[in-house]
Amino acid sequence: MRKNIVAGNWKMNKNLQEGVELAKELNEALKGKTINCDVVIGTPFIHLAAVANIVDSDKIGVAAQNCANKVSGAYTGEVSAEMVASTGAKYVILGHSERRAYYHETAEILKEKVGLTLANGLTPIFCIGEVLEERESEKHFDVVKSQIVDSLFELSAEDFGKIVLAYEPVWAIGTGKTASPAQAQEMHAFIRKTLVEKYGNEVANNTSILYGGSANADNAKELFSNPDVDGGLIGGASLSVDKFMPVIEAF
Ligand code: PGA
Repeated sequence: MRKNIVAGNWKMNKNLQEGVELAKELNEALKGKTINCDVVIGTPFIHLAAVANIVDSDKIGVAAQNCANKVSGAYTGEVSAEMVASTGAKYVILGHSERRAYYHETAEILKEKVGLTLANGLTPIFCIGEVLEERESEKHFDVVKSQIVDSLFELSAEDFGKIVLAYEPVWAIGTGKTASPAQAQEMHAFIRKTLVEKYGNEVANNTSILYGGSANADNAKELFSNPDVDGGLIGGASLSVDKFMPVIEAF
């Protein structure tokens, strides 16, 4: 059966020392605790190796927030999936709306990144979600379906089975405006139905679909209690242990 996952996305926050400190604190806080979900922290690239070294890998998985769509070579400033894997990280967040919007990541580029991530034994946490205008004009289901189809549906069932999805309505990210539990469940059920149609029940039922967008200690329990919401991708509330632990413990 699919896993419950609470994944932090630090975005471009915390210098190296602060990030290492936060990872240490989280590791301490989880020690000896029974946790009913997998915990992941998505750090900036330069933190990955240090953080992966510090945390108990049975308790905390480490994620990059991006990787290159090329294997290696003359791509100044880029970081490859192989490099990410060599740090001890296990996940890569891909297709975050901030990367789609500010860095012009297209469905095609994301398809390449997903392929390289899988080829290097990493788990993609693939983000999808509509902007406010698309929801208001009732295009949100079509938009989310296209994002999935265009970047992921050429994968074999076996490879698709390695993907984690994160539904993040863009209007809810960093805005303090969360999708209601009913809105989240409605979209997650739609996504799962889309997966059933393409890959069948087994793959669809085994795919973890996380919710992201202003999820926090106050709303996590209600969001996670929905049958198709298998956890969260947490931005702001992952930046301190005080705020992140209650989200983890919502399971
Ligand atoms: P937020 O960010 O929790 O700060 O809204 C979520 C995300 O962008 O992954």
